[in-house]
Amino acid sequence: MSAQQNTSTTSVATPAGDAKQQALDHAKRAAAQAADIPDIPADTPLRPIRQVAVIGAGTMGGGIAMALAQIGMAVKLIDASAEGLARGQQRVHDNYASSVSRGRLSQADMDQRLSFISGSVSLADVRDADLIIEAVFEDMGLKQDIFRQLDTLAKPGAILATNTSGLDVDQIAAVTQRPQDVVGAHFFSPAHVMKLLEVVRAAKTAPDVIATLMDLGRRMGKIAVLARIYPGFIGNALFRNYTREAHFLVEDGALPHEVDQALTGFGYAMGIFAVHDMAGNDVGYQTRKAQMATRPTDRRWNDLIMKLCELGRFGQKSGKGWYRYDKGDRSPQRDPELEAFIVQESARMGLERQTFTPEDILKRCLYSMINEGAKLLEQGIALRPGDIDITYLTGYGFPAQHGGPMYYADKIGLDQVLADIKRFEEKDGFWWKPAPLLERLVSQGRSFADWTPGS
Ligand SMILES: NC(=O)c1ccc[n+]([C@@H]2O[C@H](COP(=O)([O-])OP(=O)(O)OC[C@H]3O[C@@H](n4cnc5c(N)ncnc54)[C@H](O)[C@@H]3O)[C@@H](O)[C@H]2O)c1
Repeated sequence: MSAQQNTSTTSVATPAGDAKQQALDHAKRAAAQAADIPDIPADTPLRPIRQVAVIGAGTMGGGIAMALAQIGMAVKLIDASAEGLARGQQRVHDNYASSVSRGRLSQADMDQRLSFISGSVSLADVRDADLIIEAVFEDMGLKQDIFRQLDTLAKPGAILATNTSGLDVDQIAAVTQRPQDVVGAHFFSPAHVMKLLEVVRAAKTAPDVIATLMDLGRRMGKIAVLARIYPGFIGNALFRNYTREAHFLVEDGALPHEVDQALTGFGYAMGIFAVHDMAGNDVGYQTRKAQMATRPTDRRWNDLIMKLCELGRFGQKSGKGWYRYDKGDRSPQRDPELEAFIVQESARMGLERQTFTPEDILKRCLYSMINEGAKLLEQGIALRPGDIDITYLTGYGFPAQHGGPMYYADKIGLDQVLADIKRFEEKDGFWWKPAPLLERLVSQGRSFADWTPGS
């Protein structure tokens, strides 16, 4: 197999003055519109939320508790063990203390917020909660086990939410006798800072549960976006495509710093490989390893990140990953050893390494997201293009001046985007199958902006 040749047919320019303002205006409109859910009237009576229980005092549970304490909500933070709970409470304390030391929070506010968060190691302590948010490990069996118990412990009418990053919420709801009360509440890390909340509607979720959670998100100063069940919902579904192409590009001939420079040149604060090194390349290692045995063999896969883990290249924490890091310095440095390994891997896979321009790199990373976004719209996973845009602007660091992936696609011109996607499909097959909606819009000379469901 030979790596794909890239020849540019369209341009990905940085918007100037007016265009930038239009993109920012679009984002504002999209943020406001995300609250509108066509089949749930704005005056739907909300379920009162006075007390919340958060299960799992880890990274997310602690952050969610802080986001709730910020609006004066009483929170019961529950972990399985006294050690887990103490660790979580300490992290919450340290986060507040750091804000106080930086002058961002007063000591009085810190004390007050801490007073809203109480701890427990007993799941039975969910009994008074109006809303329960589960944030334990990403494991279907464990989550189902918790929801089975919640079904007997929670008071009638309590909302049972899961913070899963992508598990099927229907399968979680199915173990309860009250699937109408079960919903996804996908917060982003750090949950007390990040503005995005993906509310995930399962097949039987009651409208007032969705309305209540969307409203609570707004009260927490977040932008709540409604998604339906799909692997990775809206945000992680697109992100999967973006990272896949970045990794294929590296196998095909680009080096990590070249991909990252193209992305930062577009306006991202960090390139994807620097992000991987910061988050830890081992995140998701076990899940991916488990999936490898049964994944379809009719398409190309990328396992470089697994190999980096096997070489101990976990990222910043091990001093090397896609880059190398000097002790006490988080700035990524090119690593000749890693680059030689990449070149060797391409040869092993029979890929002839190519040269890519920043424009080629951007097209593969961004158009793969746009194509996936079109599929989400057509399947009703996302309600509107603006919902995808605002998800990306608030949760995934998409450069504000470009207005989000779907808005950006309209600016480039959907015909141009589709032409490139078809060119990529010829070379790389499966992953680039054009979304039927994209093809239809192009054939009708329309854009995402004038699309409505069913049109
Ligand atoms: N970390 C992220 O960036 C992120 C972002 C969005 C969503 N999520 C999702 O949030 C969830 C939690 O992720 P995390 O990163 O906070 O994990 P984590 O490992 O930091 O924390 C999980 C916590 O759950 C506790 N726990 C495990 N079993 C329990 C049980 N039976 N009862 C009570 N507590 C139990 C653990 O002791 C631990 O404190 C996962 O579903 C994850 O996919 C994570």
